[in-house]
Amino acid sequence: MRIDVVTLFPEMVEAVCGHSIVKRAREAAIVEVNAVPLRDFAEGRHRITDDTPCGGGGGMVMKVEPVARALDALCADGAPRRVVLTCPQGRSFTQEVAREYAAERHLVIVCGHYEGVDERVREHLVDDEVSIGDYVLTGGELPALVIVDAVVRLLPGALGDAAAPHKDSFSDGLLEHPQYTRPRSYRGWDVPEALFSGHHAAIEQWRRWHRLRRTRERRPDLWARFERTPADEALVDAPEPMAPS
Ligand code: ADE
Repeated sequence: MRIDVVTLFPEMVEAVCGHSIVKRAREAAIVEVNAVPLRDFAEGRHRITDDTPCGGGGGMVMKVEPVARALDALCADGAPRRVVLTCPQGRSFTQEVAREYAAERHLVIVCGHYEGVDERVREHLVDDEVSIGDYVLTGGELPALVIVDAVVRLLPGALGDAAAPHKDSFSDGLLEHPQYTRPRSYRGWDVPEALFSGHHAAIEQWRRWHRLRRTRERRPDLWARFERTPADEALVDAPEPMAPS
C-alpha cells in the first residue's frame, strides 16, 4: 500500500513514521509512506499556501491551487486512489473506516489547516473528510498520523501476530478484556485465578464476561449497537466466572 501525506510539516510526519510498527512496515515494503511538502506546490518566491478569507474576517484559509497541484502530481498515473482531508467537520474516524482505508492501494491524506480550507478543496478534490474526535487541533498532521498508524497496523504482515488485529477492541464491537503478565502477585495485587485454571473454555468465558461488562459500563454507545447472543445476555448478568475447581 502507498500512503501520501500532504502537509505543511513533513518533518512531523517523518519523525513519527520513523518508529515502531510503521517504521518496520516501511522497511519490509508492506507500506510506502511519503511526507509530501505542500509548499513544494505553492507558487511565487514566498511559496504561500494560505490567504485571507473572502468576505473578510480573521484567520487564514488554505489555498486551493497548491492542494490541486499536489494531488495532480501524486495521482498522475491515473490509478485508483482515495483522497482524504482531515478536518473537525469530517465523519468520525473509526476502526471500520481504518479497515476501509487499509483495503485501498493508494491513500492520500491532505492535512487541513486549523483555521480553514478553501471549500473548493472539499467540493472538487477530496473523496472523504474525516475527524479523529470532537476537539479542535492546531493542524491536520496529528490526525493524519493517527490514521496512518491505525491503517498500517491492519496491513497483512505489519504486526508480528497475524491474528492480532482481529482481537482488537472494536473489531467485533466489544472492548478488550484485561491482560496480565508475570509476576503472578505484585505488592499484593494478584492476577485473577481464572487465568491459571488451564481450562481454555473457562478462560475464554472469563475474558468474554469482562469484555461484555466493560463495554456495557464504559461505552453504552457500543453496547447499544452490539448484537448480543442469548448466551451473552446470560453471561453479562452473571457473577464474574471463577476458576473451575
Ligand atoms: N484538524 C483539527 N482538528 C481535527 C480533528 N479533530 N480531526 C481531524 N482533523 C482536525
